[in-house]
Amino acid sequence: MSSPAQRPIRQTDGVVNPLRDPRDKRLPRVAPPCMLILFGVTGDLARKKLLPAIYDLANRGLLPPGFSLVGFARRDWENQDFRAVAFEAVKEHARTPFREDVWEQLCAGMHFVQGELDDPAAFDRLAETVKELDRTRGAGGNYAFYLSIPPKLFPVATEQLQRSGLAQRHNGGWRRVVIEKPFGHDLASAVELNNLLHKVFPEESIFRIDHYLGKETVQNILALRFANTLFEPVWNRSYVDHVQITMAEDIGIGGRAGYYDGIGAARDVIQNHLLQLMALTAMEEPTSFDAQAVRMEKAKVLSSVRLPDDLDLATARGQYAAGWQGGVKVQGYLEEEGIPSNSTTETYSAIKLGIDSRRWAGVPFYLRTGKRLCRRVTEVAVMFQRAPHLPFSETDTEELGQNALVIRVQPDEGVTVRFGSKVPGTSMEVRDVNMDFAYGESFTEASPEAYERLLLDVLIGDPPLFPRQEEVELSWTILDPIEAHWAKQGKPEQYPAGGYGPQSADELMARDGRQWRRL
Ligand SMILES: NC(=O)c1ccc[n+]([C@@H]2O[C@H](COP(=O)([O-])OP(=O)(O)OC[C@H]3O[C@@H](n4cnc5c(N)ncnc54)[C@H](OP(=O)(O)O)[C@@H]3O)[C@@H](O)[C@H]2O)c1
Repeated sequence: MSSPAQRPIRQTDGVVNPLRDPRDKRLPRVAPPCMLILFGVTGDLARKKLLPAIYDLANRGLLPPGFSLVGFARRDWENQDFRAVAFEAVKEHARTPFREDVWEQLCAGMHFVQGELDDPAAFDRLAETVKELDRTRGAGGNYAFYLSIPPKLFPVATEQLQRSGLAQRHNGGWRRVVIEKPFGHDLASAVELNNLLHKVFPEESIFRIDHYLGKETVQNILALRFANTLFEPVWNRSYVDHVQITMAEDIGIGGRAGYYDGIGAARDVIQNHLLQLMALTAMEEPTSFDAQAVRMEKAKVLSSVRLPDDLDLATARGQYAAGWQGGVKVQGYLEEEGIPSNSTTETYSAIKLGIDSRRWAGVPFYLRTGKRLCRRVTEVAVMFQRAPHLPFSETDTEELGQNALVIRVQPDEGVTVRFGSKVPGTSMEVRDVNMDFAYGESFTEASPEAYERLLLDVLIGDPPLFPRQEEVELSWTILDPIEAHWAKQGKPEQYPAGGYGPQSADELMARDGRQWRRL
């Protein structure tokens, strides 16, 4: 039997890549011959994130030489229009420097197919284009279909992929489908969506993007916990008082009224990003980092989540009102274009959850997210219990808080450890200080964008960073009763834009004798 250090890397479908020795970092993970078919290529996500990420991958030499990118949308574009828009998107949003030769090579494989998603003739044209590109550029029958389209169109797109034969595998090639959150809007619709996808694609070919999982800082939660001896011994109910997971945004809904209204902060952020962060923070050590082992541990956490008995006391919601942000007057949610003046959609939500396990019994996890808050910050803060006894005079420890380990997901990526330290001077005064690790200072290489990592993983067929069906359904099982409870409440509390969120969220913490970390 090979030792762990000798074991070759296991890739898609359990296939072992003999070319890649895990000890040899000189060999990057490179996508095999393949083609990406991007539905909704004229949309916001494609322009800001996906097209720049594809260019960045090409620039890093991680795409195969004959890589093809086929865009599909209704707009009346020719190939050259697609390339011109993609060029602008790359110039504006790519992470790596622009290189003419890389761009030219990428462009040679870029094609556009115009059509409606419910039009069989358009899919027949798409199938012809794909076939021809595969023949001329050698995709090896390997196709990834990225559905960057409104979720209500997932059913028609998958039906057409099946009808046109595009979803059928030939000659050992693979087919993968990528979908973007939201994965349904409750448990029933998520099950329905999964059933529909499974009619055409097996679970291992479905890649659900929760782009937070592509972030270096999020993956680092596992490195921090399981590559060190320092933290894990105190990562439990004997030492941890509570955990706060925050995603605060300073922006409003922008032009996304149609998407956001009726969805709200909890479905948009807590169901996916924050519950995934919680699962990574709370899970047990997986037997390995292959997809099955990691996802199994995350699913165990999600299935042990316990909702508090009184949801009135354990949840809070709010809606931003007009206010000032960075010296600029901004309007309230109800005045935003496209939002009905009687909307009850929340733009802020906070939830207290418990985890029924030996490790976490009695340790509350507080999750909060909101728009139009005073700062943009995403972090996981593990707050430790206070020392059981302080052998100092009371006045010397007045400014001493709780020890904390804060994983700063964005911006200012890094980790902070907060602890008490003696203030220089003649008395034994103790005050909180921070010890910081910042990515920018410790590593010379810049972190890839989340979409670079995730797109590459799709093309390689490396699934650990994609939530599977079970996790999605478990997350809705947690959220559904809370949403049902809120639906009976009517209007959420208003909070001024540019502030800290609704007062009810502060009261939620105060009832437990705690407070939120300052944003
Ligand atoms: N934008 C983000 O930051 C973000 C973040 C998280 C998740 N998402 C998810 O990502 C997906 C895409 O979002 P987006 O913001 O890019 O949406 P978007 O800007 O509204 O773009 C939608 C795309 O779908 C195409 N489309 C719409 N109806 C079509 C039809 N009947 N037939 C063919 N094409 C059609 C549109 O192209 P034409 O109008 O040219 O046909 C456009 O390219 C959605 O699932 C969204 O929930 C987006």
